[in-house]
Amino acid sequence: MPVPIIIDCDPGHDDALAIMLAAGDPAVDLLAITTVAGNQTLDKTTLNARRVCTVAGITDVPIAAGCGRPLVQALSVAEDVHGVSGLDGPMFPEPTVDVVPEHAVDLIHRMLNGHPEPVTLVPTAPLTNIALLLTRFPQDASRIREIVLMGGSTERGNRTPAAEFNILTDPEAADIVFRSGVPVTMCGLNVTHQALATPEVVARFEGLGTPLGDMCAELLTFFASTYRTLWGFPHPPLHDPVAVARVIDPGLVHCVDANVVVELHGRYTRGATVVDLLRDVDRPVNARVAVGLETDRFWDRMIAAVTALGARTPRERG
Ligand code: RIB
Ligand code: CA
Repeated sequence: MPVPIIIDCDPGHDDALAIMLAAGDPAVDLLAITTVAGNQTLDKTTLNARRVCTVAGITDVPIAAGCGRPLVQALSVAEDVHGVSGLDGPMFPEPTVDVVPEHAVDLIHRMLNGHPEPVTLVPTAPLTNIALLLTRFPQDASRIREIVLMGGSTERGNRTPAAEFNILTDPEAADIVFRSGVPVTMCGLNVTHQALATPEVVARFEGLGTPLGDMCAELLTFFASTYRTLWGFPHPPLHDPVAVARVIDPGLVHCVDANVVVELHGRYTRGATVVDLLRDVDRPVNARVAVGLETDRFWDRMIAAVTALGARTPRERG
């Protein structure tokens, strides 16, 4: 039976492919897509979710916009990484998929309580919406199967030496999630940096011969340009689909149990995920932490999902 999931995202190039993986792989049932401010402002991340669903032919999944700013600190977007639009690179048609009028938190609340079985939440963005859900509706925790998030790191950060972008953008929200008691799986940079979109990967998308495959190649090409410029990466890490892959097949993403706390007060370390991999401190295990990726099988599932979606949308006649 496919696992029911809701993706909470901030498209964002890697969020875009995470949406496609979730919509195209039969192992998960994508119930809804919710958006949050992060990579770009909420209006842009929401427009981008609509764009992705339009080009991928995802027309039966509700999209709801959520929080436009972090719980406490001001929003700081990643325009240097994802561009002014938040999804720079390809040219998108006018979106035909619209948003639903509900706030993202209300939609998640309604779906959690309306679905016959507990739902997995897959945040691939700052955790503002999820923290607000758990604060406004604490009883919903029992309706959440688990939270499988992209964020944090067992090693260094990517926005500061200590902090990863999703956690750093809203550390208070991340703290609420990791303290919530809901089963959390953290897919951090230490594992997502194994999901490198090499030229061979890009060529596989291009080789599909579909508009969607070409769109993915263009997204990855832009993403590669900013990662090369900003950090000297030869190939860009495709972070967000790793969290979806963990739900699709837990054997794709190897995890260990550990205590994870979020640093809120460190002058130089605010937003860091402090992961006690070696059980050095007497804090209880509160998360599963991803430590390894079956990279080849991960890309096979990513390509298969885009193939399945691309087969749904009419091929443009040359
Ligand atoms: O640090 C990587 C994360 O930040 C990814 O989710 C990317 O989309 C950005 O949101
Ligand atoms: Ca993201």
